[in-house]
Amino acid sequence: MCGIVGIVGKQSVAPLLVDALKRLEYRGYDSAGVATLENGVLNRRRAQGKLVNLEKKLIAEPLNGFVGIGHTRWATHGVPNVENAHPHFSDNVAIVHNGIIENFRALREELEKKGYVFTSQTDTEVVAHLVASYLKEGLEPIKAAQKTFQRLEGAYALAILFKDADDMIIGARNGPPLAIGHGEGENYLGSDAIALAPFTNKITYLEDGDWCIIKKDNVEIFDFDGNPQERIAQTSASSSFLVDKGNHRHFMLKEIYEQPEVMSHTLSHYLDFGTCESHIGNDLPFDFAKIDRMAISACGTAYYAGLIAKYWFEKYARLPVDIDVASEFRYREMPLPKNGFALFISQSGETADTLASLRYCKEGGMHIGAVVNVVESTIARESDVIFRTLAGPEIGVASTKAFTCQLSVLASLAIAAGKARGVLSDEDEKRLVRELTEAPRYANAALKLEKDLEKIAHDVAKVRHILYLGRDTNFPLAMEGALKLKEISYIHAEGYPAGELKHGPIALIDEDMPVVVIAPHDSIFEKTVSNMQEVAARGGRIILITDEKGASLNSVDTEHMIVMPNMPDILTPLIYALPIQLLAYHTAVIMGTDVDQPRNLAKSVTVE
Ligand code: AGP
Repeated sequence: MCGIVGIVGKQSVAPLLVDALKRLEYRGYDSAGVATLENGVLNRRRAQGKLVNLEKKLIAEPLNGFVGIGHTRWATHGVPNVENAHPHFSDNVAIVHNGIIENFRALREELEKKGYVFTSQTDTEVVAHLVASYLKEGLEPIKAAQKTFQRLEGAYALAILFKDADDMIIGARNGPPLAIGHGEGENYLGSDAIALAPFTNKITYLEDGDWCIIKKDNVEIFDFDGNPQERIAQTSASSSFLVDKGNHRHFMLKEIYEQPEVMSHTLSHYLDFGTCESHIGNDLPFDFAKIDRMAISACGTAYYAGLIAKYWFEKYARLPVDIDVASEFRYREMPLPKNGFALFISQSGETADTLASLRYCKEGGMHIGAVVNVVESTIARESDVIFRTLAGPEIGVASTKAFTCQLSVLASLAIAAGKARGVLSDEDEKRLVRELTEAPRYANAALKLEKDLEKIAHDVAKVRHILYLGRDTNFPLAMEGALKLKEISYIHAEGYPAGELKHGPIALIDEDMPVVVIAPHDSIFEKTVSNMQEVAARGGRIILITDEKGASLNSVDTEHMIVMPNMPDILTPLIYALPIQLLAYHTAVIMGTDVDQPRNLAKSVTVE
């Protein structure tokens, strides 16, 4: 999940490449690099770490040239250092790559025998040497590139620059996305339309197996076998403005605070706030009433949103849901019900495992739906029906507003399914919709608790391990809380169903292991209180997040308590997400980590 860009232009391209890479940095920030061709000489600048380091290098040692490629890296093969940073060179060739070349070992051995010397630990360098070896055998650049693609196994989006072609970049896609941007006397390649937004909004997406020749005034696309292809250019809605943090210290905090507004946008897209009816089900390409089972697949935070949705679909629509993390689902060989409905949830719409699961279900004849934030993404394009989250661009690597918008869509969808299946009456539908319309108000109330959560974060920042507990929809939320904390503060955190604690994890409880309990006053509140008693009896320190009623009925000693307003059951996962996010955020700030770009992570995961 690196980001790649290429420009064949009419002006010096290095600053443009950097501008595009800024928009791609969400895909990885282990290193960055650009290469340009000037007067028949390939030059490159590469820097370890964030893009800002490359920018500094380019100020000290500028690059000229009207054709160039750029890369921002999320390391897979080889540590994040300068040697492993792209572009990789071989003789007359420069290459940037997003993906994994699975047969790189065999290719490396073959090329080493031919005398090629490898200077990096990456899988990508084999591509550069392979192209160079075919050029050496006398093939033209285009033929050399095509022959190379035929030797590669795995996933790749590639951009290749040739020393002897000052008006050409060759691109190829097999798996990770690659878009062509059409300009005036200038053409572009990029991992997504957002990267190319400052230059053009006329975009052609390559399909799997496609490769292309980009020249200043011309673009040609071919399939894997070299047959010319027509792919339709679209007008992209991606904005050329880089989103800023406003008055907030971090994107993550800004995005947490945007939640009342974006939840409201998302909910009002699917629900009629006036009549209190759901209109999500009106144009579906299938009938919920005729479906026996539903499959949901996603990764990370999106998976936890799906897990919460499973409770909702089963409760409100009596529709059994099979849910898997996408990396397992795609290889599980699950029997697929013909005519069944499979739903994929993804903020980016590019997550490789989720996309692979989607394609597996599509081949199996299932109806495909996607809850996505990026509408021009591959997952959105390949789905039969898209349920947009109207979260706006999410920049912080830790997902916040995308999660609560996913929940907003999923709750609306579950109500529509319940109605279609005759499980929910008109009155039930109206009540649930009315309750959901209150989400922004409760979210605002939750944000007012920030100072209390910041105080608690000072204690959390001192520990190395922490547990999160919840029941019902608050069990997936406990896992989401643990994920949020570990990804930005690097504290080891686990989420468990509260009732499962006694089956093992309770052995971990001591005075150094705080336990965050998410327990609104619901029908199983007393059961969770019993689980808290078990923790307290073993000297455990409890941080309870409950509501006014829960606070008044709780009989267990807590170290900290966050008291939320009483609210309807359907709202609790949406609204309790906010204190969970704020606790993680403040803990990370206190610990001084890079909140928006935490180590080892990337916003969009386009490798398996
Ligand atoms: C969430 O905070 C994560 N950074 C991560 O788990 C993310 O939700 C996951 O990679 C899925 O991404 P997607 O929604 O873009 O598919």
